[in-house]
Order: sequence, then structure tokens, then C-alpha cells
Amino acid sequence: MNQKSECAPVNATFNQKAGLRITNLCKTFGKKKVLKNLNFEVPKNGITGFLGPNGAGKSTTIKIIAGLVAPTSGTVEIEDVLMNGSSTAVYQKLGIMFEAPTFYNYLTARQNFKLLTRLQKNTEVDIDHILKIVGLSGSADVKVGEFSQGMRQRLGIGQALLVQPEFLILDEPTNALDPLGRKEIKNLILHLAKNEKMTIFVSSHLLSEIEQICTHAVIINEGKILAAASIDELRKHGVQTLEDYFLELIEKENQC
Ligand SMILES: Nc1ncnc2c1ncn2[C@@H]1O[C@H](COP(=O)(O)OP(=O)(O)OP(=O)(O)O)[C@@H](O)[C@H]1O
Ligand SMILES: [Mg+2]
Repeated sequence: MNQKSECAPVNATFNQKAGLRITNLCKTFGKKKVLKNLNFEVPKNGITGFLGPNGAGKSTTIKIIAGLVAPTSGTVEIEDVLMNGSSTAVYQKLGIMFEAPTFYNYLTARQNFKLLTRLQKNTEVDIDHILKIVGLSGSADVKVGEFSQGMRQRLGIGQALLVQPEFLILDEPTNALDPLGRKEIKNLILHLAKNEKMTIFVSSHLLSEIEQICTHAVIINEGKILAAASIDELRKHGVQTLEDYFLELIEKENQC
């Protein structure tokens, strides 16, 4: 269990092959330090929760992994390959759903996916299969403007699946959903990890929510990693809920 002790930075690694490795990652917007020297790994296979309150730096980290935001310093590696402008082969293994995914509302789900795959020069992909995985087969020809929030979230996950990724990153996929919608998304994530053998990295500010499905947790607060652990290990150490654990970590952090 890697946890901040005596105010030293956390080295959040697991005794497993890393799917994703973040090293000394810093990001500053203007004068504001948003990511303060992040070091962590996401083990290959399984579901790793990236958990922390609003404004902790989860989406910024994910945008840096995606190459949409440049880090101030630090590196991102996927399966030991350094991500930079020339690592296109690795990017092809990566599917990402960003917070609040956007679509052409006047096009149907199928038309949105067709357009995207044409832009990605990825016309071989079986769009019907992906719509089925995300439970939208029956709505494939409905305009996205008529979709509920839950359907849009599932479409967002489907969009990330179009590249047939080995590594899937989901930024707050259960955001703004009702309990039934959240359950559906959690079941879908479990299905993708188990049946499609994907390594999944999923962010949430709702610690209790993701705790139910993840195998590992990386906890971030105010741009710093507070802890990283497998859920089994946390249970062995008597941690009842991730929320309690998080509050305990914050208390320790405030004493530093
Ligand atoms: N482009 C930007 N310019 C300036 N500040 C930014 C920018 N993007 C993010 N921030 C700031 O960085 C901090 C981290 O934001 P980020 O969106 O990464 O947090 P988060 O953990 O994803 O939060 P949430 O749970 O609300 O989605 C916030 O204080 C935010 O205001
Ligand atoms: Mg966010």
C-alpha cells in the first residue's frame, strides 16, 4: 500500500506490469499549479479508479495523457512507450472518453460513429457491434439530440471504443446519471474489463461509486497523489470505505 507518510511524496506503483506510467508530471495554468509532481502507475488489466474531489486535477491529467494539453514538465508512458508526437502506434491502443462528450445532435448515433470512423480512417470497425456493447442497438438510428444523459454517456464510451482500444480511459462516466444509469455504466465497465480484456482507468469524484467496481485506486487531491493501493490490500488493512480512507489521508495531509 503506497500512502503519503511523513509528508513525503507518494510513489504510487504496484507490483504489476504498468499499463500507464506518469512520471514527475506538473502542470501550471498561469500562476496556478494544478498538477504538482504526479508519480503513479496504472497496472495492466483490471480497473483502476482515479479518485479525488472536484478540482483535484483528474481531467487535466487525462487531457495530458490524451495529448490535448501539454504538460509543464514530466512524462507519460503507455506500455513502456514514451508518449510524444511520434508515438502514433501507442495512441491507437488508447480509447478516451472525456468529461461531457459532444456529438452532432442532428445526426443519429450510427451517423456520428460513421463520421468519426471516416475521420479516423478506421472504416473497418464494426459500428453495430460497438453500439450493441454499449446497449444502444435499439437507438442506433435515433438523432443524438433526442438522447437522454445516460444514453449520451454510453455513446461517449462507444466513441472511445471505436479505435478498438486495449487501454480505455473514462473521465467521470457516471456523472449526472440517476442510480439506474450509474448501475448500467458500472456493469458496462465491468463487462469491458472482463470480456473485452481492456485495461480501464476511470476517474470519479464519487469515491464510493467507483469503489464497487475497481481493482485498484489512485487517490488525488489538490494536484497531489495521496495514495495508491489495490482494493484487496486496503481491505486487508481494515479500510472499510474509500471515502473514510480519503478523509483520513486529508487529515494527515493537513498535518504536514
Ligand atoms: N484551462 C485551464 N485554465 C486554468 N485553470 C484550469 C484549466 N483547466 C483546469 N483548470 C484548473 O485546474 C484545476 C483542476 O481541474 P480539473 O478539471 O483537472 O479537475 P478535476 O479533478 O477533473 O475536477 P472535477 O471533478 O470537477 O471534474 C481546477 O482548479 C481548474 O480550475
Ligand atoms: Mg474533471
